[in-house]
Amino acid sequence: MTEAFQAIKITDEVYWVGAIDWKLRSFHGYTTHRGTTYNAFLVLTDKITLVDTVKKAFMGEMMSRIASVIPPEKIDYIISNHAEMDHSGALPETIKAVNPEKVFASVKGQQALDAHFRMGDTVIPLKDGETLSLGNANIMCMETRLLHWPDSMFTYLDKGGVLFTQDAFGMHLATSERFTDEVDSYLVEYEAATYYANILMPYSKLVKRQLDKLKGRNLEINYIVPDHGPIFRNNLDRILDCYERWSAQEPSMKAVLAYDTMWGSTEMMAKAIADGMVQGGLSVKMFYMQDEHRSNVASALLEAGAFVVGAPTINGVIFPTIADVLTYIKGLRPQNLVGAAFGSYGWSGESIKHLEDDLKQMKIEMVTESLKCNYVPDNEMLVKCRTVGEKVASKLSELCGT
Ligand code: FEO
Repeated sequence: MTEAFQAIKITDEVYWVGAIDWKLRSFHGYTTHRGTTYNAFLVLTDKITLVDTVKKAFMGEMMSRIASVIPPEKIDYIISNHAEMDHSGALPETIKAVNPEKVFASVKGQQALDAHFRMGDTVIPLKDGETLSLGNANIMCMETRLLHWPDSMFTYLDKGGVLFTQDAFGMHLATSERFTDEVDSYLVEYEAATYYANILMPYSKLVKRQLDKLKGRNLEINYIVPDHGPIFRNNLDRILDCYERWSAQEPSMKAVLAYDTMWGSTEMMAKAIADGMVQGGLSVKMFYMQDEHRSNVASALLEAGAFVVGAPTINGVIFPTIADVLTYIKGLRPQNLVGAAFGSYGWSGESIKHLEDDLKQMKIEMVTESLKCNYVPDNEMLVKCRTVGEKVASKLSELCGT
């Protein structure tokens, strides 16, 4: 029978049997305006193995793609590399439909799957470094805790040198192409960076450790196969180098300025500060939060050296759009940033104190006293704003050695 959805061959043994979600626009707080894919892989070795499943709503598409290659009930093993429901949502129903001989996950994965789906002993835990024989090939488990969840693991198929990396090296990008070299390279790097900033940035130290551990294993890797977006098969060093750079978060001559405004005063301050930063040699990205998604600020911060934030005071508290972005960024824990805070007020001006507290909690080094302006800035105040921008630039020049 012809299936509605077809599998796509990745190597002699590995087929992509995932699903394309063209209309996903939000992934737990991160805007995904280009949709995504949920990648699942069928490994045609002596023991036929399914690596990961898809979000529950896409199970029919995955099963159809599997059936385009083999009858699904021929699957012997299922390996779950990550328990988050965009990859495990279809797992319970897939197990029922396929009745595999064995289901595997990491030690933490077994616990997480049980906590999600009450799977009990259905799932067999694999230890870090443990190798599973698939008959004519082997697959090795590598724990990668917190990339993205505590349960996360990579698996390495020796035949063909295929590294299945679940969320790591992924991107939310729905495309008809299955390989990164078939997609515009700027778009690949942009979406991979956006994904890193919004999903993996809090775990950058662990990313570095896992990259070092991976290098130490001396595996022959020909394919990096994530659970979202296209697959890397050429020039693997490029994405590995990006991950080295993003996980290091070294200071750079780039600044991010996020602000909102009620009657234009905080905006006037923002523009004068930005001009000072530009004059000091910085590349500046301005985000007007009334009309900007918080995740775009996170993406810009990935390769920035400064985070400057402005908010008016409203009813004794920080302006809500700025409170939103600060809450989000605080959780992503960007590293090695300098910063400054500013804002206008009418009669009390509490927002500045809140901004300072939030930036300090993020361990952002404040390079100057915060600027607080009563009602509308005059020229003297705007010159002070410009000086704040110049001080930010000067500090970054010193840190970057430029
Ligand atoms: Fe793609 Fe952490 O889930």
